[in-house]
Amino acid sequence: MSKTILVTGGAGFIGSAVVRHLINDTVHTVINLDKLTYAGNLESLTTVSDSDRYSFEKVDICDAEEVKRVFTTHQPDIVMHLAAESHVDRSIDGPGEFIETNVVGTYTLLEQARAYWSQLEGEKKAGFKFHHISTDEVYGDLPHPDEVEPGTELPLFTETTPYAPSSPYSASKASSDQLVRAWLRTYKLPTLVTNCSNNYGPYHFPEKLIPLVILNALAGKPLPVYGKGNQIRDWLFVEDHARALVIVALNGEIGETYNIGGHNEKQNIDVVKTICTILDDVKPKEAKYAEQITYVTDRPGHDMRYAIDASKIQKELGWTPQETFESGIRKTVEWYLNNEAWWKAVLDGSYQGERLGAGN
Ligand SMILES: NC(=O)c1ccc[n+]([C@@H]2O[C@H](COP(=O)([O-])OP(=O)(O)OC[C@H]3O[C@@H](n4cnc5c(N)ncnc54)[C@H](O)[C@@H]3O)[C@@H](O)[C@H]2O)c1
Repeated sequence: MSKTILVTGGAGFIGSAVVRHLINDTVHTVINLDKLTYAGNLESLTTVSDSDRYSFEKVDICDAEEVKRVFTTHQPDIVMHLAAESHVDRSIDGPGEFIETNVVGTYTLLEQARAYWSQLEGEKKAGFKFHHISTDEVYGDLPHPDEVEPGTELPLFTETTPYAPSSPYSASKASSDQLVRAWLRTYKLPTLVTNCSNNYGPYHFPEKLIPLVILNALAGKPLPVYGKGNQIRDWLFVEDHARALVIVALNGEIGETYNIGGHNEKQNIDVVKTICTILDDVKPKEAKYAEQITYVTDRPGHDMRYAIDASKIQKELGWTPQETFESGIRKTVEWYLNNEAWWKAVLDGSYQGERLGAGN
């Protein structure tokens, strides 16, 4: 049966993948609520925005009156909450906006969702869900292979790993996760939470590691790598994440948390070298792209390793990633080569140009 799904942050990297998946591959109706910060781009939705199952509301999640209007007008069955400030480096430079959007904004959305849900009746009330989308960064970091005896089994983040966020970004996301759980426990608002590893893929704003490296490589600019480049991330192709999120939103158990990951632990330097090798193959030039790699001062408080145990969502909801890192990263590089108009429009709008966005 067709549901009305309110997606916050639907003009962002992951949110737009969720909206495209919902419109292209399901029968559900989508309301995209987004403030359109520097990270939100309606250009990412041109392939679906003509659908009569899609509508857009330019709204700030911190604006209670406007959020209330959106609930009243569209009467959603499910909320998928992705709107957030999401870049760790920006959170170090200016944490205020992260607290405002990620903490106060989530609080505002929860309160408006609760007011709306409280007055629903019957099946509409029983079926309502609030799905909060979060990150594995709330768990802090894990032992790195360089720090342990060879052969030691390395732990993974599970749904019961205690929270230990390191950056203002991850602390603000951890706070929002806890608010969501408190609204379930105290007010019985039907919520679920997902925590996902690093995403990559098409329509990724070019301040994050992978798109930054692709575009700097093409422009002949340095490819900045933090510290020794040995930080490990567990990479997941964004379209695999979008599928997982829709499965959780539709079929997940209220009150549960699901970790989502790609089983792709890679050191940042290896990710950068892989991109260089693909570019050497698909867009060769005289010098090797890897010659542009430069090492820059590490980010303060930089987490060394993230890795997700995604067995719960696999066992309980039947989700597994379809893309390997090798296939996904090649698709991503090729997408940036074929979609210059998108990233030029995004860069013209807002890009800060000189940032060393060498982390996730
Ligand atoms: N990118 C990742 O690797 C990753 C991994 C795990 C979880 N997450 C989480 O997934 C969500 C989406 O991440 P992303 O990478 O797509 O982020 P993004 O920065 O690309 O997009 C965020 C979107 O939220 C919108 N937004 C920001 N502040 C808003 C506000 N006050 N009101 C309404 N809209 C607002 C922006 O305009 C943008 O469209 C975030 O909650 C993030 O914490 C991201």
